[in-house]
Amino acid sequence: MDLKTFAQALPKAELHLHLEGSFEPELMFAIAKRNKVEIPYASAEDVRAAYRFSNLQDFLDIYYAGASVLLAEQDFYDLTYAYLKRIAADNVRHVEVFFDPQTHTERGVAFSTVMIGITKALSDGQKDFGISSKLILSFLRHLSEEDAFKTFEQAEPYLDWFVGVGLDSSEKGHPPSKFARVFAAAREAGLKLVAHAGEEGPPAYVWEALDILKVDRIDHGNRSLEDPKLVERLVKDGMTLTVCPLSNLKLCVVNDLKQHPLKKMLDLGLKPTINSDDPAFFGGYVGENFAAVTEALNLSKAELITLAKNSFSGSFLSEAEKQSWL
Ligand code: ADE
Ligand code: ZN
Repeated sequence: MDLKTFAQALPKAELHLHLEGSFEPELMFAIAKRNKVEIPYASAEDVRAAYRFSNLQDFLDIYYAGASVLLAEQDFYDLTYAYLKRIAADNVRHVEVFFDPQTHTERGVAFSTVMIGITKALSDGQKDFGISSKLILSFLRHLSEEDAFKTFEQAEPYLDWFVGVGLDSSEKGHPPSKFARVFAAAREAGLKLVAHAGEEGPPAYVWEALDILKVDRIDHGNRSLEDPKLVERLVKDGMTLTVCPLSNLKLCVVNDLKQHPLKKMLDLGLKPTINSDDPAFFGGYVGENFAAVTEALNLSKAELITLAKNSFSGSFLSEAEKQSWL
């Protein structure tokens, strides 16, 4: 068996996936038609042709525009179910997925509509594909902390429906410290905490995520490697980094996958995992991310096994559940 086939077949967890980022153009068109919403493209191919980004913000503008066709519970169900169906083929056995409620509530969609549609599909995904799941509510960092608090209040009746909160959207100029109080409230409520940091932002943002937000995982974390003291800290804490190679390539965080820091992270004793981030926009689901870095970085069988194990040990499954995969 070649190494790419081996990577594809490994049981794995995905810990960094934005549901809105798994919105394939074909489904976008079908839902737009159903909801009688206009989209400024003639075909799915046209949409794909527009997916050329030179930075995170370029992508986010298109990502939020695409999500604007999602209106009804069925739309959120279809989006989530399609993702689960696709990743069953990559032998993904557990997922911890982000959703961005503010992207939808800002447009007048009820919080409950989003929540119910997604969780019904997650439950059917467990039944139909044997994929277990947890949900992470992500705050949009380009909006205010007050707005995040409002969203957290809306989420309060559903605290048992999600495992934690996250922080995403435009990183530069929006440091983790901006959300110190809302993360403290989430921690008080017993939730897990994660934050995007060090994708485009400096190592200082990773330090803030650790020391001010007190996160349980770092999403991306690439730029941590610029600060040896930070690397030392992340190693000491056994902190999981949810790394997204094809995303990094498409958003020009790296210019070439051969220069991707994933292998260096492994060599330094860090705990990276491989994830797809926004697979419909970045040209690949988790299996394709594994295949791409296996080739570009010449990863060994032992490194692939470590990466798959990291995905379970860094998850929010119970210790007993983790052990069953390790
Ligand atoms: N939202 C969706 N994908 C994202 C990414 N890669 N970084 C920040 N926010 C996001
Ligand atoms: Zn992300």
